[in-house]
Amino acid sequence: MTRPSLALLLALLLGAITLSLRLAAAPAASATPYGRKLDVPALTEIGRALFFDPSLSASGRVACASCHDPRFAFGPPNDLAVQLAGRDGRMPGLRAGPSLRYLQTLPPFSEHFFDNDGDDSVDAGPTGGHTWDGRASSGREQARLPLLSPLEMANASAAEVAAKLRHGAQAARLKQVFGEEAMADDARAFDAALLALEVFQQSPAEFYPYSSRYDEVLRGKAQLTAQEARGLALFNDPAKGNCAACHLSQKTPDGAFPLFTDFGLIALGVPRNRTLPANADPRFFDLGLCGPLRTDFQDRPAYCGLFRTPSLRNVALRRSFFHNGQFHTLDEVLRFYARRDTHPAEFYPPGQKFDDLPPAFHGNVNTEPPFDRHVGDKPALDDAEIAAIVAFLQTLTDADLRR
Ligand code: HEC
Ligand code: HEC
Repeated sequence: MTRPSLALLLALLLGAITLSLRLAAAPAASATPYGRKLDVPALTEIGRALFFDPSLSASGRVACASCHDPRFAFGPPNDLAVQLAGRDGRMPGLRAGPSLRYLQTLPPFSEHFFDNDGDDSVDAGPTGGHTWDGRASSGREQARLPLLSPLEMANASAAEVAAKLRHGAQAARLKQVFGEEAMADDARAFDAALLALEVFQQSPAEFYPYSSRYDEVLRGKAQLTAQEARGLALFNDPAKGNCAACHLSQKTPDGAFPLFTDFGLIALGVPRNRTLPANADPRFFDLGLCGPLRTDFQDRPAYCGLFRTPSLRNVALRRSFFHNGQFHTLDEVLRFYARRDTHPAEFYPPGQKFDDLPPAFHGNVNTEPPFDRHVGDKPALDDAEIAAIVAFLQTLTDADLRR
């Protein structure tokens, strides 16, 4: 089965909705429709409309979909390393926009993750959470960030968003689902929009269709070409790409299809992107899990440089890769994996390996294959092997997005 845990997911989702409604309901609000059974299709429709609505931004020009374009698996539609938004629509962000597909089972962040699909006695370390550093605990918490970030949709407050909702195209539908009283309250109106956005992002057909050619192969309905099959073998081989150690490629023991990530947070030592305006300041470092965007682990040096492993589903549609958008083709990314340690001069200024991390944190950087080499060694992958892995990655594009 493609989605063996769909029923479970739905149960979890409905549980989460009920919970959130309980949280959102003010003590004196028992007469509001919060006690009512929620209409998931209606919430999905509202969430979809809000997702594409630029009037929710301060500039009136930026919607969620501006950075998360459905034609690009809800990732960026261009090759900018970071998108431009903010109050004037021209403020550069700090990080590459991720794809929003296949996040439906993303666990909330935890420092010690025990996977119940595999060996549950192994502590996989920091895992999960929304965003590159895992700082948002749910889709709902996540949506709060862009709506209020001065670099993104740039609303000054929840009240500013609530006012837009009351006058926006979804006003009547929101009132119908959440009640007049709730929509009159700034905090609860804002919460209603976050919930609708979260529910929309759980729509199976739009966000996790499992329709790639590789899914067809797993269903026994298609075959990889010889080159793609070679790429998959190299992807899985612990002594070659070793990609599957983090980007899981096999069905889980209970039959769920692979998401091509274990959601773990790892430091790869990605080179500093000198085109990012924030990086013009040589003292500025985006250190991921230890800050500065995330603030709860600023005193944990072992967490500096760690970013969440992204899914590789639909990765061939992306035109900027890694948290800082440093690379623009899959070939460049693969060369980085294969040659980071054998040919560091191809990626870093002379004598400055791991130039996007202060030296105190260099020890955090992963050194497992293909990163287990030294200058003078043979790279783990040659050009033909890199091409084979890239060919395999192209089989991970969903059917509705193939061009
Ligand atoms: C200006 C571009 C921009 C806009 C507008 C934007 N996002 Fe994002 N989105 C990003 C970036 C960049 C990140 C990564 C943030 C980080 O790691 O700190 C992100 C991360 C996310 C994530 C986390 C994905 C993951 O893999 O954990 C979700 C979910 C998301 N955005 C949903 C939304 C929603 C919903 C909206 C509209 C309310 C929105 N975004 C508006 C750029 C944008
Ligand atoms: C030790 C875990 C690990 C291994 C092994 C690994 N990756 Fe990754 N991968 C990551 C992490 C973590 C990131 C994000 C790093 C960042 O942005 O700083 C990433 C990012 C990527 C990206 C960029 C995706 C995007 O949306 O920007 C691609 C492509 C990728 N990996 C492919 C591969 C391939 C192919 C291999 C094997 C050659 C591989 N990875 C091996 C952990 C791993």
